[in-house]
Amino acid sequence: MKHILDNTFKLGFFPTPLQLLPRLSKKSADYTIYIKRDDQTGLATGGNKTRKLEYLIQNALDHGCDTIITAGAQQSNHCRQTAAACAMAGLECHLLLGGELPKQFDGNLLLSKTLGATIHFTGQNRKGEDIGILKSKLIAEGKKCYIIPYGGSNFMGALGFVNAVKELKSQLISKNLNIDYIFFASSSGGMQAGLTMGIDLFELQTTLMPISIDKTFTKEKSLDTIVLKIINEGKENLGIKKTYQLKDCALIEGYDTKGYGIVGENEKTAINTLAKHEGIVLDPVYTGRAFYGMLDYIKQKKISKSNILFWHTGGVPANFYYAPELQ
Ligand SMILES: Cc1ncc(COP(=O)(O)O)c(C=O)c1O
Repeated sequence: MKHILDNTFKLGFFPTPLQLLPRLSKKSADYTIYIKRDDQTGLATGGNKTRKLEYLIQNALDHGCDTIITAGAQQSNHCRQTAAACAMAGLECHLLLGGELPKQFDGNLLLSKTLGATIHFTGQNRKGEDIGILKSKLIAEGKKCYIIPYGGSNFMGALGFVNAVKELKSQLISKNLNIDYIFFASSSGGMQAGLTMGIDLFELQTTLMPISIDKTFTKEKSLDTIVLKIINEGKENLGIKKTYQLKDCALIEGYDTKGYGIVGENEKTAINTLAKHEGIVLDPVYTGRAFYGMLDYIKQKKISKSNILFWHTGGVPANFYYAPELQ
């Protein structure tokens, strides 16, 4: 039988590049900054969800399912990538997206439609609250449904980031490089849970710096609680014996105060800084916010002299939806 980490449906191009940011590093004497390009995974403009979906889609196929249901905001990168993955695997895709039918489809929403997903608008509910109702309806129509939770964040999805640590470690060995801190955007928790397990499983000496993007609770749970729950869902399947606590899942808060999807000066500054120094485009909701957090840590010297990695998790199509805020 295949090892749990090898049971994937191939969707992306891996390993993603690991690059030095030379011009930004030159500006800060104490820090050398690298970037991991998961915006280059290739799946319908790329992004971190490709890694999760390789496991989730394989699991759906293993269970003989023909229909995928998932949920998110209208500009969800996860939903856009799920739609693309379903197209590749020949599965029917239903997306439950917050808000009402807009006058015009734009950014990720436009791509989700182009990629063939059936879209249901769910008003205030953007985190999968209505999945059960749709699932019952589709079952009555004879479909075999597979539910991918909000953000693709469960143990199965998190495996993508356990494996990503293995990928990063081998890149670091070949470059003879140590990374002291890894900054990334954390929102539905799957990436953080996967990285947390991955650094223990593959013994990578580094500190995770998850920047909180969305301060609202999901099903009345805070994000650190969700990360811990995802880890505990299946860590034994990976042979991890460690007992994790809430403090192992702590997030960096304070950059999320404006609220989810509200794009302000911080995000704009981060996007412009990386674009103008290195020619790399961030997104306004996730990576723009997380990169700003990293720049602020550097500016305020909140961490000691070090090698830093920013994990670029994609989201570029949202720039077009947020064009008015980014002028
Ligand atoms: C571009 C981007 N970065 C980061 C994240 C956060 O990943 P996670 O939901 O696993 O916390 C998301 C989630 O939607 C995303 O779309």
